[in-house]
Amino acid sequence: MTNKLKYFVGNWKMFGDFRSISILNRLHNFCNKFSKQGKRYKVIFCVPNSLIYFFKKNFKSNFVYIGAQNCHHHYDSNGPFTGSESAGMIKKIGAEYIILGHSENRATGDTNKIIKNKIKNAMEHKLNIIFCIGENLRQKKSNKTYSVLKKQIKESVQKKFNPRNFLFAYEPVWSIGTGNVPKPIDLIKIFRFIRKELKKSFGSKKKFTVLYGGSVSDKNIGAFSSIQEIDGFLIGGASRSSKKFIDIMKKYYK
Ligand code: PGA
Repeated sequence: MTNKLKYFVGNWKMFGDFRSISILNRLHNFCNKFSKQGKRYKVIFCVPNSLIYFFKKNFKSNFVYIGAQNCHHHYDSNGPFTGSESAGMIKKIGAEYIILGHSENRATGDTNKIIKNKIKNAMEHKLNIIFCIGENLRQKKSNKTYSVLKKQIKESVQKKFNPRNFLFAYEPVWSIGTGNVPKPIDLIKIFRFIRKELKKSFGSKKKFTVLYGGSVSDKNIGAFSSIQEIDGFLIGGASRSSKKFIDIMKKYYK
């Protein structure tokens, strides 16, 4: 099994309350033991903004990091945007990571340009960005996967951005929450393509960390673990259960 650093990122979406801290506590206890076996991994939980400050105050862990799931794109930290939160506000309450470009936010109006502005703001406030890209079913069926990914990268990434502040997540929209996952052979090709496009857009030879997201579960994680191109996983549904999340980690390293 690889000794490369791997990422296991939970995306709670609209889930959780203060009691959900027990999920994080169980994860922490598991990681505490698991790390002693010499595995190199990082666990990040992206939770609703309503929980970030509470978790930062009440959950101390050197294994599990806390992130947010989105922010407003306005360049200033304050502004007339009812119900919105800026990257600056989110950083202040304790988040270290932020998901941007998730397809569920693209579906409600986030364009590549809006996402670029969000990335800029998040970088300014020293948040690490989990930047999601992925094609939908219609685009996949009409063989547009590669052109969609290329456009999403090109229109949201600028040369001046530092790739060190990023984790990239390939999340095919048709796979999210459906139980359907891409074939390993397709994933290998797509991951290589994404890295090539990232190199072009960042103008950098740096190594890029690219995760896979979409219906990852304890049932299918085994098939992913032999794909060296994948640096980790963005996990939605299964991250709401500490047991399922822990099983994913255990089975990945089996
Ligand atoms: P899923 O969600 O694991 O429930 O498919 C992944 C995501 O939306 O990030």
